[in-house]
Amino acid sequence: MAAINRRQLLAAGAGMSALAVLPACSNSGGETKPDEKKVEVFSWWSGPGEAEGLDALIANFKQSNAGVEFVNAAVAGGSGTQAKQVLSDRMRNNQPPDSYQLHAGLEAADDIKAGWLEDLTGLYESNGWKSKFPAGLIEKLSISGKIYAVPVNIHRSNLMFFSPKKLAEWGIAAPAKTWTEFLAQAETLKAKNVKALSVGATWTQLHLLENVLLGELGTAKYNGLWDGKTDWKGADVVAALDTFKKILDVSVVGTDDWQPTIDKVLAGTAAYNVMGDWAAGYLQGAKALKYKDGYDVVASPGSTGVYNFLADSFTLPKNAPHKTYAEAWLKLCASPAGQDLFNPKKGSVPARLDSDKSKYTDYLGWALSQWQDTKTVVVGSLVHGVVANNSWKSEIEKAYGVFFTGKDSAKFAASVSAAYAANK
Ligand code: GAL
Repeated sequence: MAAINRRQLLAAGAGMSALAVLPACSNSGGETKPDEKKVEVFSWWSGPGEAEGLDALIANFKQSNAGVEFVNAAVAGGSGTQAKQVLSDRMRNNQPPDSYQLHAGLEAADDIKAGWLEDLTGLYESNGWKSKFPAGLIEKLSISGKIYAVPVNIHRSNLMFFSPKKLAEWGIAAPAKTWTEFLAQAETLKAKNVKALSVGATWTQLHLLENVLLGELGTAKYNGLWDGKTDWKGADVVAALDTFKKILDVSVVGTDDWQPTIDKVLAGTAAYNVMGDWAAGYLQGAKALKYKDGYDVVASPGSTGVYNFLADSFTLPKNAPHKTYAEAWLKLCASPAGQDLFNPKKGSVPARLDSDKSKYTDYLGWALSQWQDTKTVVVGSLVHGVVANNSWKSEIEKAYGVFFTGKDSAKFAASVSAAYAANK
């Protein structure tokens, strides 16, 4: 995926050209139950800051579909760490839910190629959705012009959260704009017995890593990491990995999911947390903090003016037992009302182009203006499904485990590079 600005994403360019169309292996034998008034929706939005947006959609669904049982099949675990395995087992055993959550990009492409998803192009056409979403985003949910999922939001991965009051208390005038400045601030913080950053479960470490690479390498080289144009083994990438190790050295590194990890910033144990903007939903919602007062957020160091994006989307799996209500769910997800109910709670901006801007205030007001600014450069997230297919991503995760213990940057880079060659 080449560096793209928002205008290009709105047009067509965020290419899925790497997606070859492979023969689909279709499920068979799934039991469809057209008369049963039920819908089962699968996601990983069960924790605070995740569940509230989903609950708002569910409440609306129940209102407009009286008598239809809604089964919320959310599996706990940020970024779908547990959910994806459960889903994959269900799909392989031909026990699909009626709709499941999926990220736009190469993650979606894998499921399309696996033959798991119904083609939703007809639904897009009959509801006039094609012109309602950025063309480049629809392309990330399509193969050969056929569209397979409905995007519900746009999230930003490259954000750094902090408590403005605590930063001031520690004598830090402004959040770090580069990772070099961050490491200098870490010294000041160390003298005060405060860790510079909190990070938790492995996926949150990889989330940090993608944004350190972005901040250190810049957008062109960052994009090249995912399409073979940037050599992972090159001196600049290895140096960025060394910087990442230095960042870990000044961090409190735990194993918790993202909510307890960002709580360390609120408690004053750590100064910063790098997380996607679902954290803004959590801080304003579950934690009832005010933007710019109880919490504040900037682009992660070195990535001002860049939107490292991801988009949650919902699907219609092949052999979904309750297709009618699954389609009703997808229609709600795609509607302006659904998007404007969900996103202000979720901490994301709408995927739709015609949403009600007045609903997006505080952090989200800033996010929407950044997303819609034609100067903003859009890149894609590794951890959240955009730029790497599932097999390469899982190799990166394995190599990261070795890197985390052995701390050998060159070895990690070589493993990721070899895994790209084997999985591209
Ligand atoms: C992402 C997902 C977000 C949020 C986050 C943390 O993968 O796209 O919506 O849920 O994980 O769980």
